[in-house]
Amino acid sequence: MPFSRSIKIAPSILAADFANFGAECRAIEAEGADWVHVDVMDGHFVPNLTFGPAMCAALRPHIKGVMDVHLMIAPVDPYLEAFAAAGADIITAHVEAGPHIHRTLQAIRALGKKPGVALNPGTPVEAVAELLDMVDMVCVMTVNPGFGGQSLIESQLTKIERLHAMIGDRPVHIEADGGITLATAPVVARAGADVLVAGSAVFKGGTASSPAAYGVNIKAIRAAAEAAAH
Ligand code: DX5
Ligand code: ZN
Repeated sequence: MPFSRSIKIAPSILAADFANFGAECRAIEAEGADWVHVDVMDGHFVPNLTFGPAMCAALRPHIKGVMDVHLMIAPVDPYLEAFAAAGADIITAHVEAGPHIHRTLQAIRALGKKPGVALNPGTPVEAVAELLDMVDMVCVMTVNPGFGGQSLIESQLTKIERLHAMIGDRPVHIEADGGITLATAPVVARAGADVLVAGSAVFKGGTASSPAAYGVNIKAIRAAAEAAAH
């Protein structure tokens, strides 16, 4: 697939029914999701615990498109092979997860996967300045990681703008992750994000067996972002 900065909506399954993940993944893709964002949390790097590589492997047959795995874990290197084998397409590690992010990104690429790097709200964008030629995506956390349903942290908008300028015409996506709603989608798109992660704003009002609301939410968020995008 040629690189494109067109707006992509990546629903986070953190907001899905944990007892029904396979059906939820099928439902959001059927309702128009571009990517499926899988939030892996270890209860150490972030104060919450979700699931690991076995869950990702179980989800893989239910995701036709891009499986965007966000690793909120530390250390991250010991688990890269397992997430790659589980079928992740994009594997995103946090720059804060350890002292050797450059080596981590090299390892993800060597596993044949697309490397992403994530920045917590307190981390300056300069932390990825040396990494822009080795990643396919930079994920800007627009909430403090660990939970869905939080409000977007406004200070991250100028960070997205600065990152957009730093990336220039490199084929590197900017993912805004957290607090993306109908109201904030245009704001992050205008700042330069092209991948919008939305959990609660997508899953609200629907279920896997009655997913129409998912489609309405995805279409509305995408339209709002497209209207504002660069
Ligand atoms: C938070 C996760 C986000 C979160 C998004 O640590 O990385 O992907 O699930 O959820 P909402 O859209 O509800 O903020
Ligand atoms: Zn995430």
